[in-house]
Amino acid sequence: MNEAIRPGPESQPQAVASPELSVVVPTFNERDNVLTLFRRLETALAGKAFEVIFVDDNSPDGTWDVVRGLARQDSRVRCIRRIGRRGLSGACIEGILASSAACAAVIDADLQHDETQLKKMLALLQGNEADLVVGSRYIEGGSADSFNKQRAGASALATEVARRVLRVKIADPMSGFFMIRRERFEQLAPQLSTQGFKILLDIIATAHGDLRVKEIPYTFGSRLHGESKLDSMVALDFLGLVLAKLTNDVVSLRFLLFAMVGSTGLFVHLAALFVALNILGWPFPQAQACGAVVAMTSNFILNNFLTYRDQRLKGFAILRGLLLFYLVCSVGLFANVGVAFSVYDKQPIWWLAGAAGALMGVVWNYAMSGLFVWRK
Ligand code: GDD
Ligand code: MN
Repeated sequence: MNEAIRPGPESQPQAVASPELSVVVPTFNERDNVLTLFRRLETALAGKAFEVIFVDDNSPDGTWDVVRGLARQDSRVRCIRRIGRRGLSGACIEGILASSAACAAVIDADLQHDETQLKKMLALLQGNEADLVVGSRYIEGGSADSFNKQRAGASALATEVARRVLRVKIADPMSGFFMIRRERFEQLAPQLSTQGFKILLDIIATAHGDLRVKEIPYTFGSRLHGESKLDSMVALDFLGLVLAKLTNDVVSLRFLLFAMVGSTGLFVHLAALFVALNILGWPFPQAQACGAVVAMTSNFILNNFLTYRDQRLKGFAILRGLLLFYLVCSVGLFANVGVAFSVYDKQPIWWLAGAAGALMGVVWNYAMSGLFVWRK
């Protein structure tokens, strides 16, 4: 080694045992929970070499700041602060990929999961009895008493769909509490979806049975501070994940939402055309142009709220995004008409040519919007 860069004795790294377990904690507005969680992890994992990686999506309550304070005091703690991105699954994936131990656990920050099970989970992985250990609420000895009726019903329904449609045979594929062999996770990671909440379901479905899974019971507790981030939109995310897995990742939720928003645009267009023609008394070409602009605007707004809600444009970026979206859609219209025309030229079947053109238009708009408007 070059003499000049050889570290002096005072800069020798501290002799910390390399971790056998990495605990990944996704956080969003969990400022009041993270310290308690860390203390409980210390107790639960006494005698084990572990690291804790918090993945925070730039929480407005400054969770990242509290975690960094902790990281300064304790070298086992790290903070990944992500800016401009939201999503539980994506945060877990990033956390596990940033970890260094052979085994990685994911646990919620709000103390609803039972950290005292971690040692048992680790023993199962280290004893080579499984590749993935799931904390399960729905096997003998587990429970989710803190759920209200509505949440319990939704959870049961989603579990049933996962079992029947995706043939995921475990009792609690919706669990957010699990431990996995990092090497195995890394093999699956390129195919996992960063959208949504259902990282565990995604892992199991993506492995297509090639993963030894064990469930151990735990009781899903009540939240200590703050509130749940699950909203009605997670149902959409769930549906998207199921579809994506069923079609081997050909159809993504984003594309489906984008196409759905696109079809609402047709009605918006007709309504605006009607108003401009019959109420405002505009000549047809102007009225038609007005319909197109109104429809593009409404598509943009809906996409920003629904399709791309995890990377929603805000403030000045909205205006820039809107203008780019107009541009993308205008070129898309040429692609649409061009394809329709060439199909019609070969096969003069109006609906076939029309549908081919529309499909081309939506695929173009989707691809270009992802590249230029909501690019991440
Ligand atoms: N980084 C990041 N980004 N973290 C997030 C995000 C996000 O967008 N959304 C939620 N989290 C964090 C929360 O801060 C918390 O630590 C954890 O993820 C779980 O979020 P909650 O909002 O508390 O979810 P929940 O309690 O309603 O749902 C839990 O139970 C479900 C089982 O019914 C989660 O564990 C789900 O994953 C699980 O499926
Ligand atoms: Mn929670």
